[in-house]
Amino acid sequence: MKSKIIGTGSYLPEKVMTNYDLEKLVDTSHDWIVTRTGIEERRIVAEDQCTSDMATIAAQRAMDKAGVKAEEIDLIVLGTITGDYPWPATACIVQANIGAKNAYAYDVSAACSGFLYALASADDFLMAGRGKKALVIGAETLSRAVDWTDRNTCVLFGDGAGAIVLEAQEGDTGVLSCHLHSDGNYLELLYQPGFGAKHPPSAAGIEAKLPYLKMQGNEVFKVAVRSLTEVSKEALKANGFTSADVDQFIPHQANLRILEATTKRLKLTAAQSFINVNKYGNTSGATIPIAIDEASQQGLLKEGDLILSAAFGGGFTWGSTLIRW
Ligand SMILES: CC(C)(COP(=O)(O)OP(=O)(O)OC[C@H]1O[C@@H](n2cnc3c(N)ncnc32)[C@H](O)[C@@H]1OP(=O)(O)O)[C@@H](O)C(=O)NCCC(=O)NCCS
Repeated sequence: MKSKIIGTGSYLPEKVMTNYDLEKLVDTSHDWIVTRTGIEERRIVAEDQCTSDMATIAAQRAMDKAGVKAEEIDLIVLGTITGDYPWPATACIVQANIGAKNAYAYDVSAACSGFLYALASADDFLMAGRGKKALVIGAETLSRAVDWTDRNTCVLFGDGAGAIVLEAQEGDTGVLSCHLHSDGNYLELLYQPGFGAKHPPSAAGIEAKLPYLKMQGNEVFKVAVRSLTEVSKEALKANGFTSADVDQFIPHQANLRILEATTKRLKLTAAQSFINVNKYGNTSGATIPIAIDEASQQGLLKEGDLILSAAFGGGFTWGSTLIRW
């Protein structure tokens, strides 16, 4: 038995924020952002939208593509660090929205690795017999977690959602492996200090901008390239493949320079690598399912293709998966 992807879907908010729009908010330039990150524009939610709204549309699209009804879904796993509420899980809100009344639903918090953690978790549950069909979602509203006066971070992120339907099937196609890692020693290089149990809500906390993402970009960059490379090699080695066997590499889309450094170390060609960070920026846990859906829509993922995916994010967390499409 394997967990096979039988449908994909995504949703990007209509509002486009270009680098030129950002020039009006902070001391930055289109050229600086493109040179350092490869990002040209990103999407931003409407005032009345939040994470569950995007996740619901992406999930519905994935189910439509799969030809699966909501009642058939046994579990919903949502990777996010920008859920609608601190609790309950945004996955439960999606469950109610789509009417998946027979499912159990929960969120996974692994920052930009959230979708791969969610995928690994759903794969394990399906392989253990705790259901036949799973919705795996990555959805983020990063625009509500960044400090729009901090040019070091606000230029990097965007909003969006992607989803897949996984089905436990007999055969050789589907998820071949998932490898996950974390190292909590790096917490303060990339995190959101408030508001949680450590720093509960306070006027002083708002003044100190605790509810906004903090990052030491340079340090994150180095660890990201190293971790993405190592965990990708780990996936290939565990399955007896080399990078030449990969048909599409669909990495977490954080920054074009991180992706180029990683693909170079892995000896992957541009034709093997899917990149859309220029259009959407870093949508954290949503980048990989959005990219999978786009690659699928563009006809880049064919039956039998070998798909390698890898992610890195706050925690630090990182992971990879190999999928026989
Ligand atoms: C954030 C990042 C783009 C910065 O690029 P960099 O080449 O490392 O740049 P530095 O941090 O060395 O900053 C260089 C200068 O640019 C400035 N700068 C930062 N953001 C800027 C912006 N948006 N526009 C213009 N200048 C900016 C800095 O203030 C610094 O100025 P200084 O030298 O006067 O202090 C890069 O470090 C990065 O992408 N890191 C990884 C981030 C990431 O992907 N995180 C998520 C991982 S899942």
